[in-house]
Amino acid sequence: MLVPSIAALLSSVASTPAAGVVLADDRSPAGERRLPERRHLHERSMRGGGGTLFQRFFPRTPGEQPEVISSPLEHALPNVDDGGLGKAYTSVPEPPRKWDVCVVGAGLSGGVIAERYATLRKQSVLIVEKRRHIAGNCYDFLDDQTGLRLNLYGPHNFHTKLTNVWDYVKRFGRWAHYYHKKLAWSEGRFVPFPLNTETLNTIYDQHLMGANETAAFLAKIAEPCGPGGCSNSEQQSVASVGRAAYNQFYRGYTLKQWGVDPSQLDALVTGRISVRSDFDNRYFTDRYQSQPRDGYTRWMAGILSDPLIDLVLGVDWFDVQQRLAGRCGKLIFTGPIDHYFADSGLPKLTYRSLRFEKLAVLNIGEHGYYQPGTSVNYPEMAVPFTRSTEYKHYPGQPRSNHTVVVRETSGADGEPYYPVPNPRNHALYAKYKALADKEALKGVHFVGRLANYKYFNMDQAIDNALRIFDGLDRDSAPGRPPVKKRKKEHKGGAHEDALHFD
Ligand SMILES: Cc1cc2nc3c(=O)[nH]c(=O)nc-3n(C[C@H](O)[C@H](O)[C@H](O)COP(=O)(O)OP(=O)(O)OC[C@H]3O[C@@H](n4cnc5c(N)ncnc54)[C@H](O)[C@@H]3O)c2cc1C
Ligand SMILES: *[C@@H]1O[C@H](CO)[C@@H](O)[C@H](O)[C@H]1NC(C)=O
Ligand SMILES: *[C@@H]1O[C@H](CO)[C@@H](O)[C@H](O)[C@H]1NC(C)=O
Repeated sequence: MLVPSIAALLSSVASTPAAGVVLADDRSPAGERRLPERRHLHERSMRGGGGTLFQRFFPRTPGEQPEVISSPLEHALPNVDDGGLGKAYTSVPEPPRKWDVCVVGAGLSGGVIAERYATLRKQSVLIVEKRRHIAGNCYDFLDDQTGLRLNLYGPHNFHTKLTNVWDYVKRFGRWAHYYHKKLAWSEGRFVPFPLNTETLNTIYDQHLMGANETAAFLAKIAEPCGPGGCSNSEQQSVASVGRAAYNQFYRGYTLKQWGVDPSQLDALVTGRISVRSDFDNRYFTDRYQSQPRDGYTRWMAGILSDPLIDLVLGVDWFDVQQRLAGRCGKLIFTGPIDHYFADSGLPKLTYRSLRFEKLAVLNIGEHGYYQPGTSVNYPEMAVPFTRSTEYKHYPGQPRSNHTVVVRETSGADGEPYYPVPNPRNHALYAKYKALADKEALKGVHFVGRLANYKYFNMDQAIDNALRIFDGLDRDSAPGRPPVKKRKKEHKGGAHEDALHFD
């Protein structure tokens, strides 16, 4: 089947008149409105014309330029946000109040454990969160300037193969159908990413139609690794997609994202590259893919709504742990494991962080867009950022005459987002883990991505929290049936995740 090629469409747009010229009038020559009305304001002129990057737009009508305002995303953050629950404290309640369970962190891991103890075991829970909002890294909010819903810590796409997780998440709010798609901007055009038959046709100028032709073509361009296997990520990538695609899509992206050339990264760290030998351009292939209709924060509020759950926002656990001594039955810690053991004398684990720049485009119209899809990767070194997200494309967004794109730049400093998988960190984490295992004897349990120093997708974080709850619950009531171990489902090594983390 022939799928209309957005890349072909866009590249033809990109190669029309010189950059800076008004390309698309709103009207056809006869003066009628063209359909569809969706227009994209994008960087098609980035490489041409010699002007400043990103400064030419696709105006609504000739001569009319939308106003573009750039600011750090965190400036848009509301003051305190408990997702409308109206129950958050800003300091820890005084004695004699005590709780069966105290939880550090109001993200997915802490939220799910709290929900389980409160609703299943009718136990009281205190959650202490140092940020002024719930939902951890999934947090989203309505932006004052544009009315659109933005994620503060990067776009989040829910996808899972796990039916138990899907059944669980559906209980706390409405979910909207959504297949995430991603484009990469390279050599002046947008192409589907991860690479599929259409991408190969575009970048290698082929007319491949089916899986067999694609496989045969890939075999031709691949440079296989030696008999000893691939020894680094560069070799591994070139072995799957060929040198040209590697240079175009992987090398620069990895350098910008990790600060390391792929030739310096272990092949095992990044895993294998997936190439689709068809025209499927969904980013994920999981059975369940969806977005919370009213955003993640509203949905998380549903998880935390049980009256047995008390919530304290804007308070760091380490500032109040003395005051809470003897008032928590169990402690669930979902913060960074090296913070908990800061006094152990062990060195710190390292993380990769992101900086988010918000670009508000005002008065572009309700159907005006900046880029042709939700998410665009920028693998080229000439572009300073790695990824750009236009939230208006997500389902369930409020109507707005404006749009926002948020651009991500990667760095070593800032909020801890991604563990850096290298031998030093693996060995160090093993030492922290040994300390954590001893702490379990005192009723302290480490749950979640920061506590496990592991990249978890949302579904993995939920599944993991549900399992840990089951395990702890069984230990406190030995009659309950044992928790089944899940077979190796959490490989987490797919190349897109490792190199293009999402
Ligand atoms: C940029 C980015 C994009 C992502 N995109 C996706 C995606 O598309 N799809 C997907 O499935 N997953 C995605 N994820 C992963 C997702 O964010 C995680 O699975 C999820 O947030 C894990 O929840 P958590 O509760 O374990 O950790 P967190 O959400 O980090 O929650 C931990 C909480 O603990 C709090 N805390 C830490 N220390 C303390 C302290 N001392 N005192 C009090 N509170 C403390 C923190 O403030 C935080 O709120 C993405 C992650 C990032 C960083
Ligand atoms: C594709 O290759 C397989 C295995 O070689 C073969 O059985 C099949 O008929 C081929 N399909 C097409 C459409 O050529
Ligand atoms: C967008 O602007 C049009 C024209 O000014 C107006 O009619 C419409 O209500 C606006 N939409 C929103 C969501 O503000």
